[in-house]
Amino acid sequence: MLVPLREPLGQARDAGRGLGAFNVVHLEHAEALVGAAEDTGLPVVLQVSENAVRFHGSLAPLALATRTLGERASVPVVLHLDHAVSVELVHEAIDLGFTSVMFDGSRLDDATNRATTRKVVARCHDHGVDVEAELGEIGGKDGVHAPGVRTRPDDARQFALDTGVDALAVAVGSSHAMTERTAALDLELVAAIRDVVPVPLVLHGSSGVPDDGLVAAVRAGMTKVNIATHLGSVFTAEVRRLLAADPELVDTRKYLGPARDSMRAEAARLLGLLALR
Ligand code: G3H
Ligand code: ZN
Repeated sequence: MLVPLREPLGQARDAGRGLGAFNVVHLEHAEALVGAAEDTGLPVVLQVSENAVRFHGSLAPLALATRTLGERASVPVVLHLDHAVSVELVHEAIDLGFTSVMFDGSRLDDATNRATTRKVVARCHDHGVDVEAELGEIGGKDGVHAPGVRTRPDDARQFALDTGVDALAVAVGSSHAMTERTAALDLELVAAIRDVVPVPLVLHGSSGVPDDGLVAAVRAGMTKVNIATHLGSVFTAEVRRLLAADPELVDTRKYLGPARDSMRAEAARLLGLLALR
C-alpha cells in the first residue's frame, strides 16, 4: 500500500530504527525493491530522482509503474521524488500521486533556499505530500568526492523551523556515488543535530558507508537512509557476470531477471540491517 512518508518515518524514529530509501531507475529496480520489502515485512521508500527523470526524458512512465507496484504491495511503500531542483517537477509529482518529495535547494543561496523550500512545503502540504529538504550540500555527484561540508546543528534547527519541512537531509561526512564503502561519519555531529532538530534526519550518499557505520548512524540519530549506487553495483555485477559467462546470451530477461533477484536480496538485507536497534 502507498503511504505518506511521515507514517513509516515517524514510526522508525520513535523506535530508534532506520528506514531504507532506495532509488528506482528502471522497472526491474522497483520490482526488486518492493520484493525486498515484502520479503522482510518492512516499509520501504522508493525514490525517483530528477537525474532518473532526465535519463528517461519524463517522470510519468517510470513513476506510474512504480506507483502501481507500491499500491499492490502488502507492506507500506512511500513514493518519493528525490533531489528535485525543479519546482515544476515537484508539482508534476504531486499530480502523479507521489506521497513525498525532496526539494533540493542546497545549491541555492541560503535565503533563496529557505524561501523556495517554504513555498514548496505549503503547496505539498495542501495536497497531503510530505517534504524533505537539504541543508549543507552532500557532495560527490558526478564522481566527485565529498567536499567536507558539515551541517551546523543550530542552522539545521532554524532551517527546519523556518521552512516547516517533514524531514531534513544533513551533511555529516557521507558523499554521493561512492563505490567503496569507506566513508566515516561524524557520529557526534549526527547526535548533536538529532538533539536539536524537531524532524527526522536523512542520510544521503549512504552507499559509501559500511554496514557497521549504517547501524551506528541510525543509533546516533539518522532515520531515513538513502542508498542508490551500492544497489546499482550489485545489479550490474550480476549482469556483468552473466554476460561474461555466456557471450551468446541475447535475451534481456536472462540477465535482468537474475540481476533483479540479486538486488532484491541485498535490499532485503539492508532493510533488516537498518531496522536493527
Ligand atoms: O538521494 C540518493 C542518495 O543519497 C543515494 O546516494 O548513490 O551514494 O547511495 P548513493
Ligand atoms: Zn542524495
